[in-house]
Amino acid sequence: MNFLTLSDIDKDILWEILKRARVLKELREQGISRLDVLSGKILALIFEKPSTRTRLSFETAILELNGSAIFMGPNEVGLGKREAICDVARTVSRYVHGVVLRTFAHKNLLEFADNATIPVINALTDSFHPCQALADVFTIWERFESLDRVRTCFIGDGNNVLNSLLLASSIFGFQLDFITPSTQRPAKDVLDRASDLSIKYNGRVVFKELDNFKALGNYDVVYTDVWVSMGQEAEAEIKLKDFMGFQVNQDLLSKLGHPLVMHCLPAHRGQEITDEVIDGPYSVVFDQAENRMHVQKALLEYIWRS
Ligand code: CP
Ligand code: NVA
Repeated sequence: MNFLTLSDIDKDILWEILKRARVLKELREQGISRLDVLSGKILALIFEKPSTRTRLSFETAILELNGSAIFMGPNEVGLGKREAICDVARTVSRYVHGVVLRTFAHKNLLEFADNATIPVINALTDSFHPCQALADVFTIWERFESLDRVRTCFIGDGNNVLNSLLLASSIFGFQLDFITPSTQRPAKDVLDRASDLSIKYNGRVVFKELDNFKALGNYDVVYTDVWVSMGQEAEAEIKLKDFMGFQVNQDLLSKLGHPLVMHCLPAHRGQEITDEVIDGPYSVVFDQAENRMHVQKALLEYIWRS
């Protein structure tokens, strides 16, 4: 069982994972963080990009469930450079019980998964960040208790985080309006996939692309992400120009009816979001970060049970 995008797991199972994550969070809040459920399991984390939350939340998750983690960073494996991706995948599969992979092109993750004989979890590619989106759904659910009537809006870049949120809204049925610069729209195949999922699970498309800020209404949640993602540093100058006017600031929040503010982090304070907003009373960004750990615990339990 792999978790490469949200649509790899059926909606009812995703709900089971979220409900189990809630139990695990409650147990931890009562001081019960160590559970002997993944004893003997070894998880490899192979990361070709930097990370704070994804690495720490996965390592903490597996350690607290009595398994162990081995981390390999950007200078070690050299996927497709030092060695063919298929050879790394086959080798790793002989040692450990699961892999959490952070890489660049999504096709590299698919190639790795095709050649691995153990579960592979997407820890972020240029195209998708499913662990983030699943924890974000958990964060929205714990705030609103039901997802049906929650109105969310994403303002920013049409890449990995928005792509996974589009799949999340289409699976879980919450409204997701989004606005990106015309040069940074989500790819058509992602929108098509989200439409198909939306119809499958909700009978109608629940997300909507907005072409100007006047079309924004009142929301329960506003979400943003960096304008220059990891690996896009060479395009920074052009991208920063494209995103002029897309900042989530106090003025915008008042126009949107003071929604909760979400951001996957890391944030580039002063670019896509102001200090005042990220540190303000509506911000739930550190709940999102914490919830990565609870949700990934439940995900790991499920992946090895199935
Ligand atoms: N949100 C997230 O994935 O953070 P890191 O890049 O620090 O892992
Ligand atoms: N879009 C960002 C997300 C970081 C969690 C990036 O890819 O760098």
